[in-house]
Amino acid sequence: MKNNLINIISDSLKKTELTEIKNDFSDLLFEIRRSKKKDVLINDISIKKDFLIGEINQILETHTLERTKYYIKRLMKSLTETKHNKINDLNLNRWKEYDDIITDSLWILSKRDSSGVHHAGYWGNFIPQIPNQLLRRYTKKGEWVLDPFLGSGTTLIEAQRLGRNAIGIELSKKVLNQTKKTISKEKNPYSVKLKFLNEDSSEINLKRFLDESAIKSFQFQIYHPPYWDIIKFSNNKSDLSNAKSLNDFLTKFGKVLDNCLPYLDKKRFAAVVIGDKYSDGEWIPLGFYVMQEFINRGMILKSTIVKNFDETTAKRNQKELWRYRALAGGFYVFKHEYIFIFQKK
Ligand SMILES: C[S@@+](CC[C@H](N)C(=O)[O-])C[C@H]1O[C@@H](n2cnc3c(N)ncnc32)[C@H](O)[C@@H]1O
Repeated sequence: MKNNLINIISDSLKKTELTEIKNDFSDLLFEIRRSKKKDVLINDISIKKDFLIGEINQILETHTLERTKYYIKRLMKSLTETKHNKINDLNLNRWKEYDDIITDSLWILSKRDSSGVHHAGYWGNFIPQIPNQLLRRYTKKGEWVLDPFLGSGTTLIEAQRLGRNAIGIELSKKVLNQTKKTISKEKNPYSVKLKFLNEDSSEINLKRFLDESAIKSFQFQIYHPPYWDIIKFSNNKSDLSNAKSLNDFLTKFGKVLDNCLPYLDKKRFAAVVIGDKYSDGEWIPLGFYVMQEFINRGMILKSTIVKNFDETTAKRNQKELWRYRALAGGFYVFKHEYIFIFQKK
């Protein structure tokens, strides 16, 4: 069946009898359905069985010869030709198969991916699905990614799995060493290059480092800063979680952008993952202030994604208390954070 598929499709395009064509495709559908495998291999490329079934059903449901041939040609194209854009490896001729790539602006992610060395142990890390989604949308294999707030290295783990090279910057030496150790336990199937820098992202001379490493620029940058002082990551004064005021936090974050954005290629993307905070009876829209820092530097806002926010263990234990406080105080309990997507002009 595998090798026959392309032949059946091209033969059907020569036929002029609709019933005959439909009979061919009915037989094909029967065979594909019977196969126990999830994917069908055609010319060494695996095609999702569900996708093929959907396309063949559409062909079978059509009533005119002209329309039927239109769908057959479309199927042929998706099986034999590729269509790419400049920012990722997705084959747009087979876009229907990427049903796990989110394109809506509301992300409800319930279960954390805990495969391989991923773990929820680092307080304040993000779930692996965030960098996974973003790297597949905004990078190609072999490109360079920057994460100036590395933490437990979720981005670098995903980059390694997806065949993207990456640099992570982390202020805490202890955290950095632990992250390096953890990642070294994962397989590196694409021989990806990962670099770990123990530096202050608001002071780093990235140019010097890039020159030394013969890296020209980045094709994607992902920022996951502390949400100001919500979680204190260290006692280091340069740690953004120790910023003395909102202004101080934004100034320091702005310096990180000034150090990193010049080395992002034009037309390429950057993302920031950030939540708001509540302080002295006032909702501080930290996310929107941080978004503005990118816009102030000429970046184009492409999307605002709202992602559900899992309760932290501490909050979970105090759920009732927070509900009471919310009812009494006229506010809402945090359940979301933001992912802002930007493009460089
Ligand atoms: C929200 S966490 C990032 C978590 C990461 N995305 C993960 O999945 O593990 C922020 C990290 O930024 C680091 N950090 C804070 N200030 C920094 C600075 N000035 N330069 C570099 N890293 C900094 C903290 O130590 C912390 O590990």
